[in-house]
Amino acid sequence: MMEYAVSIENLNLWISGRQILYDISLRVPINKITVIIGPSGGGKSTLLKTVNRLIDLYKNVKYTGKIVVLGRDTRKWNPYDLRRAAVYVSQTPNPFPHMSIYENIALGPVLHNMVKDKEELDQLVRWALEKAMLWDEVKDRLDEKPGILSGGQQQRLCIARALALKPKILLLDEPTANIDPENTEKIEEVLRSLCRELTVVLVTHDHGQAERLADKLIHMKRGRIVVPSKIQAV
Ligand SMILES: Nc1ncnc2c1ncn2[C@@H]1O[C@H](COP(=O)(O)OP(=O)(O)OP(=O)(O)O)[C@@H](O)[C@H]1O
Ligand SMILES: [Mg+2]
Repeated sequence: MMEYAVSIENLNLWISGRQILYDISLRVPINKITVIIGPSGGGKSTLLKTVNRLIDLYKNVKYTGKIVVLGRDTRKWNPYDLRRAAVYVSQTPNPFPHMSIYENIALGPVLHNMVKDKEELDQLVRWALEKAMLWDEVKDRLDEKPGILSGGQQQRLCIARALALKPKILLLDEPTANIDPENTEKIEEVLRSLCRELTVVLVTHDHGQAERLADKLIHMKRGRIVVPSKIQAV
């Protein structure tokens, strides 16, 4: 039986010959929220992107160690399937600007042949928007471009777009940075309800958020996992 959604052993990573991650080992429990916190430049985003091999798309990246996602070594996954099972949502909301709100959500399921007809697609789009607590705010504006939405709404749109792929793992990179308290609260509520069905790995700078959400808390500094007391001592 699978014990962890993600398990990393002795990950070392270099970009252009400069070491970015040092000997990272960690386990991410299934259907829980694991929070990674730590100073800027510490390697948090790089670590998230390594989990689903998004980092492979960057130039001059080399890494060693073992990463197992959903019971399978990531090197044995087809990277496209891996990135669908473990979806990365970037810190800056990045909806496709020239597509409608509806199309933003529908594109992934269509590309991956996840639905058989328009009716099923409509249902999936609605389901994803409801899960991301955005449906009520956009249901009358589905044909409009995402540019009309606020930053917090756009971030929830990106979470909905990720959810429409029916992932098992959500890799969220600072989902509430630059978002007002009301939207932050909404996103936190979304995450709490989601982890009944999937595993969340969340990067944040916000200690309050970490405390509110984390089933497991990981501190990172200068490319290493550290114990909190060391963070204060340095
Ligand atoms: N594509 C890249 N090319 C070169 N260096 C990179 C690249 N991406 C990240 N780095 C370097 O890797 C280190 C870790 O960056 P990363 O973005 O993972 O940190 P972070 O902890 O997410 O920071 P922040 O909290 O500011 O988002 C930094 O020194 C950064 O300059
Ligand atoms: Mg980052």
